[in-house]
Amino acid sequence: MIPTDIKSYYRLHSKFYDATRWVFLFGRDALKKYFPELPDNPKILDVGCGTGKHLVQLQKKYPNADITGIDLSGDMLSFVNHKNVASIKLKNELYSENSFKDNEFDLILCSYSLTMVDDLKSTFEDIQKHLKPNGLVLVVDFDSTLFTLFSKWMKKNHVSFEPNLFKLLDEAFEVEIKSTRKAYFGLYSYSIFLGKTKEMSFLKITDNLP
Ligand SMILES: C[S@@+](CC[C@H](N)C(=O)[O-])C[C@H]1O[C@@H](n2cnc3c(N)ncnc32)[C@H](O)[C@@H]1O
Repeated sequence: MIPTDIKSYYRLHSKFYDATRWVFLFGRDALKKYFPELPDNPKILDVGCGTGKHLVQLQKKYPNADITGIDLSGDMLSFVNHKNVASIKLKNELYSENSFKDNEFDLILCSYSLTMVDDLKSTFEDIQKHLKPNGLVLVVDFDSTLFTLFSKWMKKNHVSFEPNLFKLLDEAFEVEIKSTRKAYFGLYSYSIFLGKTKEMSFLKITDNLP
């Protein structure tokens, strides 16, 4: 079921999202430098594509790709249409196991969406199922903070620093690239992660989750 609190949060925030998020969602522009080499005519998914920033970048880099963006917020998706990405498929629903078939995608991108999901373990399982063997996952997101007040404030904005997303990604996927940077003199850090599917990873991460 779609979390109505996130949906209503973006009903308002979608209106000024593109104008404001450069202030704290760092690494989104740099993400294109990490777009990997993919087979011809690849299939690509952007989970939590929002207003479509990366759909545009992906279409430029992979002009022959079959690209889909999924987002639970129709308000966010409505801004994708203002960008020149007519050939891209959009799905307005909560990303789940049933959203796509198994072994469908060569690359799944998640930009600042995974720290918003309730159940990281099941989302990782869904990503692993939807990726082809040797498929790649590319993530940019908040990594950690030492400041409790900041993480409490972010929680009010539906972002969770716990459990640590990148620690779990390290365990669930074979790491190809991991890069971590500080933001605002260490108020928080954000990371970019490129990983590959690996067998038995569901079992490996189970023990570490609450
Ligand atoms: C911070 S925005 C990031 C949007 C975009 N990826 C970007 O980098 O600008 C997070 C987006 O993820 C979406 N989202 C969060 N959890 C989701 C889920 N489980 N399924 C689908 N969309 C989700 C939200 O609706 C929101 O549009």
